[in-house]
Amino acid sequence: MEALLTPSKGANTLPLSKRLKLETHSAHERVDKAIMALSPFSSLKGYQRFLVVQYQFQRRTAPLYHQQDLGAWLEGLPERCRYNAVISDCQDLALNLDDLKDLSPPEPDIDSQAAALGWLYVSEGSNLGAAFLLKYASQLGLSANFGARHLAPSDSGRGLHWRRFTAQLDAISLSDEQTNQALNGAREAFQFVKSLASVALNNQ
Ligand code: HEM
Repeated sequence: MEALLTPSKGANTLPLSKRLKLETHSAHERVDKAIMALSPFSSLKGYQRFLVVQYQFQRRTAPLYHQQDLGAWLEGLPERCRYNAVISDCQDLALNLDDLKDLSPPEPDIDSQAAALGWLYVSEGSNLGAAFLLKYASQLGLSANFGARHLAPSDSGRGLHWRRFTAQLDAISLSDEQTNQALNGAREAFQFVKSLASVALNNQ
C-alpha cells in the first residue's frame, strides 16, 4: 500500500487535492490513531476529550474561512465554517470555553495563502470521516441537534460538498513553491491536531 502511495515522478502532475491525499495519508492515519486513543465513543467523558480537540482545531482554522483572499479562490468559503457548530456542541456538553482556550498548546502560524489552503483541506476533509464519527456519537445519545452538530453533513451532502471543495482547490493555479506550501500546511495542520489529541489525553 505505502509503495503505491509513495510520491512518484508523476505525482507533480497530479491535481492538488490528489497530491494532498497522497502525501498526507500517513499523517491522517496518525491522527486517526491519536483520536481513537481518546476513547471518544466509549463514554460522554471520552467524547468531551474529542470535542476539546475539535474545538481547538476549528478555532485555529475559523479565521481562514473569513479571509477575503482565500474567499476569492474558494467561493462560498465562509458558509463552510463549523466553528459556531462546535461551540454549540461544547455548550451542550457543559465544557467551559475559557478553560479550553487556556488548555490549548500554542497555535502554529499559517504564514502564506497557499499554506492556508493545506489547512482548509484538512479541516474540510475531516467532515468526510465525520460520517462514521456521527454514527458512533449517536450511540451516546448525541446528534446533529445536540452535542455533535459539527459532525453533521452539509445540506448538499458530504460527498458533493467535498467534491465541490476539491474542484475549487484544483482550479487554483499555483506555482511549485505554492504547491509545496500547501502540502506543508496540510502536514502542519495534521500535526497540530495530533498534538491537541496528545494534550487532551494527558489532561484527562
Ligand atoms: C477517528 C477519527 C477519524 C476517522 C475514523 C477518519 C476517517 C476518514 C475517512 C473514512 C475518510 C474518507 C477517506 C476516503 O474517502 O478516501 C477520511 C477522509 C479525510 N479525513 Fe479523516 N478520519 C478521522 C479523523 C480525522 C481528523 C481528526 C482529521 C483532521 C482534523 C481528518 C482529516 C481527513 C481528511 C483531510 C480527509 C480527506 C482525505 C482525501 O480524500 O483527500 N480525519 N477520514
